[in-house]
Parts: sequence; C-alpha cells; structure tokens
Amino acid sequence: MGWDGAALERLVRGLPGIAYRCLNDERWTMVFASEGCRQLTGHAATVFMGEAGRSFTDLIREEDRGTVRAQVQEAIEDGMPFQCVYRILTASGREKQVWQQGVGVYSPRGEAEAHEGFITDITEFRLTEEERLRLAVELRQTEKLDSLGALAGGMGHDFNNLLMGILGNAEFALSSLAPDSVVRENLRNIREAACRAAELTNQMLAYSGERRFELRSVDMNRLIQEMQHLLRSSISKKVALRLELAPELPAIQAEPTQLRQMLMALVRNGADAMGDGTGTVTLATSVMNCDRASLKEGWIGEHLGEGRHVCLTISDTGCGMDEATRTCVFDPFFSTKTRGRGLGLAAALGIVRGHRGAVRVESEPGRGSQFTVLFPRPAEVASKAGAPAAAAPAWRGSGTVLVVDDERIVRQVAEWMLKRLGFTVITAEDGEEGVEKFREQAREIVCVVLDLSMPRMSGEEAFACIRAVRVDVPVLLSSGYDEQAATGGRFAGATRIGFIQKPYEMAALEAKLRSILG
Ligand SMILES: Nc1ncnc2c1ncn2[C@@H]1O[C@H](COP(=O)(O)OP(=O)(O)OP(=O)(O)O)[C@@H](O)[C@H]1O
Ligand SMILES: [Mg+2]
Repeated sequence: MGWDGAALERLVRGLPGIAYRCLNDERWTMVFASEGCRQLTGHAATVFMGEAGRSFTDLIREEDRGTVRAQVQEAIEDGMPFQCVYRILTASGREKQVWQQGVGVYSPRGEAEAHEGFITDITEFRLTEEERLRLAVELRQTEKLDSLGALAGGMGHDFNNLLMGILGNAEFALSSLAPDSVVRENLRNIREAACRAAELTNQMLAYSGERRFELRSVDMNRLIQEMQHLLRSSISKKVALRLELAPELPAIQAEPTQLRQMLMALVRNGADAMGDGTGTVTLATSVMNCDRASLKEGWIGEHLGEGRHVCLTISDTGCGMDEATRTCVFDPFFSTKTRGRGLGLAAALGIVRGHRGAVRVESEPGRGSQFTVLFPRPAEVASKAGAPAAAAPAWRGSGTVLVVDDERIVRQVAEWMLKRLGFTVITAEDGEEGVEKFREQAREIVCVVLDLSMPRMSGEEAFACIRAVRVDVPVLLSSGYDEQAATGGRFAGATRIGFIQKPYEMAALEAKLRSILG
C-alpha cells in the first residue's frame, strides 16, 4: 500500500480530536483544523478559520482561559513544546475536558508566528479518575464503619452482660424487700436506669450492623400509617408531619421494630432542626428507578444494583447542615445538640446496613435536610415471620438447670431467677467446667443455660460436648449479642434449643424455658 498526500489527508481528516495550526494571536485564528473539530466541539472546523471566524479561545471556560494562554505563550517563547489540560464548552453547552499539546512555528528570523498540535477529548479518562477518588473516599468510610462498628458491637455485648447483673440484682432486691421499705423507690430507679442503658446498648449494637434481622415482608406505607400518631406525639406541636405515600408500593423484606426505630430517629431529627420554630417534616415513599449514575453519588451502605428500589425520604424545613456537619452525621456520638447523644443516626445507619440498604443525606444551611433510604428490591423468598409468644400464665419448673457463664454476676442473677421459677441450679464458670459438671449429673439436668462467648472453650464447643453426652438435653443459648450475630445460624437444624439475649428479665427467661422444655 502506497503512501502519498491523499493518504495523509485521509489520516488527518479521520483523526479523533483536532489536528490544528493557528496563528499565534489572542484568539488562535485557525489556519487549519481537522474535521474531528465537529465531534469535539460541535462546531465545524471552518467556523474558526480566518479573521472573520470565531475565536477558538472563546470555547475555553473563562476560569481556564487566562492560564492556558499564558502556558502556551511561555512555552513558545522558550522554544519548548507545550501541553495543557482545560475545559471547553461545546456548541450544545456541554463541558468537556481536553488535553492540548503542541509546538511553536517560527519564522526564519525566529519569531513565533503560529503554533500547531493536537487537541484531544479526555473527559472519560477524567471521570474514571474521579471515580477512583470517589471509591477511595467510600472505602475509607466503609473502614470507619467497620472499625467503629466492631468497637460498638464489642462494647454493647460487654455492657449487656453488666446490665444483666444490675437489672437482675435490682429485681431480686425488689422482690425480697418489705412492701413499705424506703429503698423500694431507689431500686425502681436503678431498674429503670438499667433498662434505659440497655436501650442505648441496643442502639450501639444496631450501629455495629452485626445484627442480621429476622426479615419478613413489610408494607412500608402501612407501617408509617400505623406509626403516625406515635411520631406526631413525639415531636413538637409546632411541627407538622406530612405523609406522601406512593399508591402502590411493593413490600420490602424488613424487621418492623427496626424500621420503626429508624423512622423515629429521622423524624425526631427533622423536628429538632426547627428549633423553637414551626415547620414541616415530610415522610414520603416511592419506587425509585435507579440507574448506574443515580446510584453513584453519596450513598452509604450497600452497593445496590440498578433497578427499581423502594425509597423512603424524610425531609424537613429546618436549619439544614453545613458540609462539616453533613459528613459526620452518621458517626456514633456526633451531636450538635446540648442534650443529644449522637446515636440516632448511627443506629439508623446500622439498621439500613442490616437491611442491605443504602442511605444518603442532602442538606444545606438554611435549606432543610433530606434523608433518602433505599431498600433493595424484595427478594423472592417468602417471609418467615416468627409468631410472637402468647402471654404466659404463672408457671413453675422443676429439676436441675446447669448455668454456664463466665460472668459471675450473670451466673448469680440467672441462678436466682431459676430458683424462683422452681429449679435447682448448678453453675459453671466456663465451657470446660460446664461439660465436666454436665457429665457428672447428666441424668438429673433438665436444661443447660449456656453463654456463647466464653474464654477457653467456646459455647459452641461446649454445646457439642454436652450434646455428645446426652443428645436430647434442652439447651438455652445466651449472649450479649442478638441471636443472629451470636449464632450466625450455626445451630440451625438442632432441636430443643433456644436463644435469649442478655440482659434478660425473669419473664423472658420463663417464656424461653417454657418453650424449649414444653
Ligand atoms: N434533619 C436534620 N437537620 C439538621 N441537622 C441534623 C438533622 N439530622 C441530624 N442532624 C445533625 O446530626 C447530628 C447527629 O444526629 P443524631 O440523630 O445521630 O444525634 P442527635 O440527634 O444529636 O442525638 P440523639 O442520639 O438523641 O438522636 C445532630 O446533632 C445534628 O447536628
Ligand atoms: Mg437524633
């Protein structure tokens, strides 16, 4: 294949981007520009040719124009090639990033008469670069969530053990006290404070995202409608609560209690943002058609796939947030309120993550805030709602129960509760001792209450050893974590087994024992 002038012309004409030569004047008057100009700028190359033509430099964004001209000029004067990156506005008003490289064209006397080179579209590359940065920010956010989550989860678990001791002892003391005792009130206060602390602990556990909820099919609209009175009564009278519910909303897979906690936290925050003033908090549901682009920006939580997701937005007409606040709102213990604990949104985020959803916040000072939560498309799996236990009449147990727990205070409280229920109790302070004691009295023991996280031999190993001795002995597992986090489904399929989360009160223990012993 030969090479001639025509071949060269074809090459230049077909090149993506612009091959050019222009005068070395302010407006870069084009002497030649290749046809790729139309593709890049939306204008035909001829538009920029000659004195009467348009100024090419007018396409350059105003903020970039001065720098670009100076850079080019300086290089040309130094006799050096130049390259620069800048933004142009195309004929349709779209912004593109371009990369230009060129050299000066000099007269025999050494005067810079023109310059020539290439101008290439790099918008896509730039986007990829931005994407990389965005992913890095997201990764940092995820790492933060993971480490803080692990911390919150660990603390929550330990606190629940301690609270079990406080609650149980208060309950014990109350029940053995003379009815007219003066310290009755104090003990009630202790109990109440411990219950509140347990609520906080559970919020921390929620934030840790460790909880995998018992999901069932939930109609979000109905849940909101049922809750609206509660929501209204928990915010100031000056704040109106408006509902904008989508007429046909697919059900989502969720745990209603957790959704309620999340809604409460978000609505309360919206109302708080009004200060003493009036305003509106709007709760809206919809089905959002998400494409790749709309799922890119600012979502925290799960990476949802494209498609239709159930969307919940909570917007308010309150004070709004500046950027510094906005980036911290989900951090545990971040609060700008004098009496805020900074756990509302941390827990809400944990709940969103536990539901494999994503959340986004948009806000500006003075312009209110909007929180958007996306729930993934409902999985096809049928709901497996657990039937709530019916209220129980007085019940008494009998026989020996073995309590295995490494926390002394938990052993004491459990022992006291079990005795009150009519059982004889033996205790062991770790898995090995538990297995040993079980072997000694395997025939008398009617049930084992077994802590799952203990040093030396874990609850899971102890369970296996105990069941190896007697395969049908009922076992009540317990942990400061909730069931899914503690057992992770590892005991699925085992019979005569139950789970109770610490701290527990006597009524809860009784109900669990009845169901596995019955
Ligand atoms: N709708 C909102 N408008 C303005 N600021 C908000 C909004 N929601 C949250 N914030 C900011 O985020 C912070 C954290 O909110 P979060 O709910 O986690 O904690 P809190 O409300 O301060 O305390 P609490 O634990 O009692 O909920 C708030 O203190 C506030 O600064
Ligand atoms: Mg709050």
